Order: sequence, then C-alpha cells, then structure tokens
Amino acid sequence: MKRTFNVAIDGPAGSGKSTVAKRLAADLGFCYVDTGAIYRTVAYFLDLLGISPKDVDGVARYIDELTVELAYDSEGAQHMLMNGMDVTADIRTPEISRLASQVSAHKAVRDMLLEMQRAVAREQDCVMDGRDIGTVVLPNAQVKIFLTASPEVRARRRTQELAAKGESVCYEQILQDIHRRDEQDTHRAIAPLKQAKDAIRIDTSEMEIEQVIVAVKEKIEEKRK
Ligand code: DC
Repeated sequence: MKRTFNVAIDGPAGSGKSTVAKRLAADLGFCYVDTGAIYRTVAYFLDLLGISPKDVDGVARYIDELTVELAYDSEGAQHMLMNGMDVTADIRTPEISRLASQVSAHKAVRDMLLEMQRAVAREQDCVMDGRDIGTVVLPNAQVKIFLTASPEVRARRRTQELAAKGESVCYEQILQDIHRRDEQDTHRAIAPLKQAKDAIRIDTSEMEIEQVIVAVKEKIEEKRK
C-alpha cells in the first residue's frame, strides 16, 4: 500500500493552525482533519450527560457510550457526528473550549481517539492540526509545523473572529481563557502540547496568514520533491 503524505500542524489556541491547515488542505487537494473538534465533541457529549471533567471514573465509564465520527460535506468542510448526530454547530463555544481542554487530559479519552486519528491519516493524504499530532499521533508525518504567537495576539485574533460572527466578546476574558488553556494543554501528563524535535517552528505574531501559508507550502514542496 502506498504511504500517504501527512502534514502535522500543532500549536496553542489562536496560533492560526486551523486557518493555515484548512487552506493548505484545499490547495493541495488533501483532507483536512481538525482534531480539536473531536475533543470538543467528547466534551459536549459528557457535558450533556452532566459528567464533570474532573470525574475520572465517570469520564472513563461514559466514554464507551460515545461514537465519534468525522464526515465531510460537498465543500470539504469537516462535520462532527456524536452518536450519528451532527453537532458541528454546537461545539464552538467558550464553555466547550474550556471543557475540551480539561477532558482531553484524560487517558481514557486520548486512548479512545488515537487510533481513529491515525486511521484517517493512513487512508488519505491529510493536513491534521491539534496539540500532539507531530509528537504522538503522527510521529512519522513527512512535514511537521509548530505554529505559535504571543497570547495577546492570539486573544486579539479570537476576539475579532467571534465579533465577526456577531458574538459579544470581551478581550480580557478571552486572554484569560487562553492563558488557562495554554497552562492545561502544556502541563498535562499525557501528550501535552509541545514542539516535536523535527518540527519547524513559526511564530505568527507578526505575520499575515498568507505569509504563513506560503512559508509552510515551501516546506511541503521541498519534502514532496
Ligand atoms: O484546537 P481546539 O481549540 O479546537 O482544541 C480544543 C481542546 O482540545 C484543546 O484546548 C486541547 C484539546 N486538544 C488536544 O488535547 N489534542 C489535540 N490534538 C487537539 C485538541
């Protein structure tokens, strides 16, 4: 079987991962996999059941009742199916961001999702973004990128993004949430957010998204030659 070409993009919330990954996937004709959405779906499910993310036994027990699937619409956009139900529109709230960060620290949750993510990458060329893609999920990815930016820049981007969607937002609150999530995502015991040794680090604080895309594309083209 021919080996697929995989691009791993990791980084903290608001570093530009999903915008860059989505564009790269579209331009290269690759599949885009947003793994944060998978963790958000788990968090949403447990929240519906009233399971606290601090309840280790409860999380481990009820996770078995959940089937998470990825689906793609005709425009190539990823949809999340929770036991067959499309919850894509429900998982992008600040509350689910907080819960996903907590729930993703559980071993039971990470174990359940690991093989699913690897299977997608085995079956098709893809750009996958998340926190542990280059380090744990796809350690053999042909290209690994670690995107970062200062917390202030990331909070400003998130504020603008939410405001553009018509949501009322408070920059200070978003900045605080970003600090809290960074802390949780980088300090958890299993698969914490960290740069893989062979990843290319790009600080996007002072860059336009187009510049980032061009820089990453160059790295991909070098590897594909
Ligand atoms: O990328 P995002 O903001 O949608 O991710 C939501 C949370 O999910 C994030 O705070 C940590 C967790 N996550 C993870 O632990 N591992 C991944 N590969 C992707 C996300």
